[in-house]
Amino acid sequence: MELLLMIDSAKRASAGYITAVIPYFGYARQDRKDKPRVPISAKLVANILQASGVNRIMTMDLHAEQIQGFFDIPVDHLKSEAIFIPYLAKQDLSNVTFASPDVGGVKRARSYAKYFERDLVICDKERRVANEVAAITVIGDVAGKDVILIDDIIDTAGTLCKAADALIEKGAKSVKAMLTHAVLSGNAYDNINNSLITEVIVTDSIPLRGKSDKIVVLSCAKLFARAIRNTHEYKSIAALFVDKNI
Ligand code: R5P
Repeated sequence: MELLLMIDSAKRASAGYITAVIPYFGYARQDRKDKPRVPISAKLVANILQASGVNRIMTMDLHAEQIQGFFDIPVDHLKSEAIFIPYLAKQDLSNVTFASPDVGGVKRARSYAKYFERDLVICDKERRVANEVAAITVIGDVAGKDVILIDDIIDTAGTLCKAADALIEKGAKSVKAMLTHAVLSGNAYDNINNSLITEVIVTDSIPLRGKSDKIVVLSCAKLFARAIRNTHEYKSIAALFVDKNI
C-alpha cells in the first residue's frame, strides 16, 4: 500500500517517469491457477502496480521468469548470481555439488553448476498442503560431497531442512544453502538452527527480523544501485549479469 501511495503521490506531482524498485516481489509464488478457486496473486499485484501509474519495475530473482510478462511495462529482472557468484568464487569448491531443492528450481541451480563446472543434483519435493513439505527424494549422487542448495526463497525453511536431511541420508558430507529472499516466517529460525545445514547465505532483499549464527547476509544494495544508474543513463542492464549464458 505504501508503495502504491508513493507512486500515486509522484504521479500527481507530475513526475515524468516512475520506477518502482522492488527487491523482493511478494506474492510471486502464486503465479498460476493450479487448483480450483485460488487467485493468481502475482498477476493481481502486477495489475495493481500498473493501475497506480508506475512506468517501470526493477526487481530481483522472480519466483518464475514469466512473471515479467504479467506487466505491460519494462521490468528489469536482476539476478542474485551477481552477488552470490563472487562470494562463492573466493571459496574452495573442489568437492562441491550444487543441488536444487525442488524441480522448479533446477534452472537456477544448474546455472551455478555450469558456471563453476560442478555436478548438479535435484531434490524431488512433494507438498500435500501449502507451507508443508511432505517428502523429498534426491536424484543424483552426493556421497562424500559438500552440497550447496540453491533456491529463490526461504520461508518456513521446511524445504531446505528436509532437503538437507535427505542429502545427508544419501551420504553428503555437508550441506549449505544459498537463497535470494529470506522471508523466514513461522519457526524458520528454529528450524535452521536445529537443522543439519551448516550455513544459510541470503541477501537483504527482505530485512531480517531475527538472528542465527548460521545465517550470512550479503547486501543487494550495490547491484540495485548499479542497475538504477544504468537505467537512468540509458545503459545496459545485461552488463550487470555475471555471465549472460547461464
Ligand atoms: C518454492 O517453490 C520456493 O522456491 C521455495 O522452495 C519455497 O518457497 C520455500 O518455502 P519453505 O521455506 O516454507 O519451505
